[in-house]
Amino acid sequence: MIKTYHLAILIAFFLVLLYFLYINKPIYSNPVHLLKFSRKYNSSNGSIHRTNILECREFSDLTSYCLYENVCLENNEFLFLTNQPDINQAFEFNGRLKDWDHYEPVDLGGSVIDRQVNNPLPYRSFINGRYVSSSYKKDTINFQNGCHSILSFDFFGHNIFHWSMKVSPLFLYQHYNKFNNDNKCKNFTSIRLVDRKLSDINEWQKRFLEISTGLKVEGNNYDFTNEPNRKQETIQCFKYFLVPGTAIYLFTGPREAIDFRKRVSQELNLNFVRERIVLVKRKSRLIKNQNELEDFIRSKFDNSSIDIIFLEELNFTQQVEKMSKAKLLIAVHGAGLTNAIFLPSTSAVIEITAPHFYYPLYERISVQSGHFYFKFVTQYDPTLHSDKYSNRNSRTCMLDGNCVVHWKDASIKVDINKFSIMFEQVMEIL
Ligand SMILES: *[C@@H]1O[C@H](CO)[C@@H](O)[C@H](O)[C@H]1NC(C)=O
Ligand SMILES: *[C@@H]1O[C@H](CO)[C@@H](O)[C@H](O)[C@H]1NC(C)=O
Ligand SMILES: *[C@@H]1O[C@H](CO)[C@@H](O)[C@H](O)[C@H]1NC(C)=O
Ligand SMILES: *[C@@H]1O[C@H](CO)[C@@H](O)[C@H](O)[C@H]1NC(C)=O
Ligand SMILES: *[C@@H]1O[C@H](CO)[C@@H](O)[C@H](O)[C@H]1NC(C)=O
Repeated sequence: MIKTYHLAILIAFFLVLLYFLYINKPIYSNPVHLLKFSRKYNSSNGSIHRTNILECREFSDLTSYCLYENVCLENNEFLFLTNQPDINQAFEFNGRLKDWDHYEPVDLGGSVIDRQVNNPLPYRSFINGRYVSSSYKKDTINFQNGCHSILSFDFFGHNIFHWSMKVSPLFLYQHYNKFNNDNKCKNFTSIRLVDRKLSDINEWQKRFLEISTGLKVEGNNYDFTNEPNRKQETIQCFKYFLVPGTAIYLFTGPREAIDFRKRVSQELNLNFVRERIVLVKRKSRLIKNQNELEDFIRSKFDNSSIDIIFLEELNFTQQVEKMSKAKLLIAVHGAGLTNAIFLPSTSAVIEITAPHFYYPLYERISVQSGHFYFKFVTQYDPTLHSDKYSNRNSRTCMLDGNCVVHWKDASIKVDINKFSIMFEQVMEIL
């Protein structure tokens, strides 16, 4: 005999099943599952096929890129076309980094949060968007075949490190799909730069962009949305669309860095050889006893194999050329250390930092580019430093922006005795 409560249990069971199967699901398709076309795109009546996620690649908490099929942009907003009728749900993710040494997203109060479950874009893409029904129609839809991409930023005034971590996922995609016969983005057709104009980026940034994407800046390959004469379109759709997240350490390991250097070698027609010693000088964050440091370096090597340079006095090609011949790079903490990616594999990097200052950024970039990394932390010196932040440890200093800036930009003095002890170890691997 079936009792009423049996029926009730059965119904409850199916409701729970229904919940897990349908309701408790993100709207977007599972990234690892490749959806197939159900009908062909027809441009003549302005409808477009629904969006598919073809590939997302993640490392640690970071999604470095996602590749989509059939995506539209409307005023730089990402339109994710679904086959759900009448949907119009926005997604937006403004999580910030908790710390520079791990990639956990946090809310404004500092609590770690998950990415919005329904946000189909990679973490730190800095793009907003929404789901729209695949019957979403506009009078004019401009549809472009080929693979396209977009770079969107969280702030203005990017130095070369900030720039590289935004651009490098485009190279990472090409690296991971190099031997994929079905590679949808072997060549980029166009790349949009949101809220930028060409004159915002310097020569290094321009050349790095070109090498990473394989797409020259000349012509109409890049769409800088802040150019005054830019044609305003209402809605622009793309067959394939690669959205980068942000790759804070540029490469996840030497395999990508080595591949990148191979591309650089071909593009700039240069060889990587471990021969020379490069000491980078700065016009700020001065080493007060720079001459003493230079004399020490000269005492260790043949003078003719030492290059003492200001990076800002060299153009991109010259900087890469210098790096490509170095077995040892010595520099004070700063964005110039991004150039460590251009050292021949298994070179050594010495980063000299101010006291109370811990930013493991170039450490990770150096190691993940395939090099040996040495950090030399200088000491508090009452003749150089105020005692305002002198009794902070690096950890508590990192939590206070004023302290970080105070030490980051401080002039320093290198204790040559201490430096020489570390240098013995450096010599061992040169
Ligand atoms: C596209 O749609 C038009 C009518 O809007 C139709 O005449 C044409 O055959 C369609 N083409 C394809 C490839 O479906
Ligand atoms: C537009 O074209 C598609 C594909 O041919 C078709 O399925 C759809 O019904 C058309 N829509 C309208 C409004 O004509
Ligand atoms: C893609 O670019 C490479 C060179 O970078 C070129 O050899 C190839 O023909 C291009 N492919 C397409 C489909 O344009
Ligand atoms: C070392 O070489 C540089 C040029 O590369 C030269 O200016 C400098 O005088 C030399 N120093 C010594 C000690 O020979
Ligand atoms: C870089 O500078 C060198 C020396 O001034 C010059 O010969 C070269 O053409 C420059 N390269 C570029 C790409 O501007």
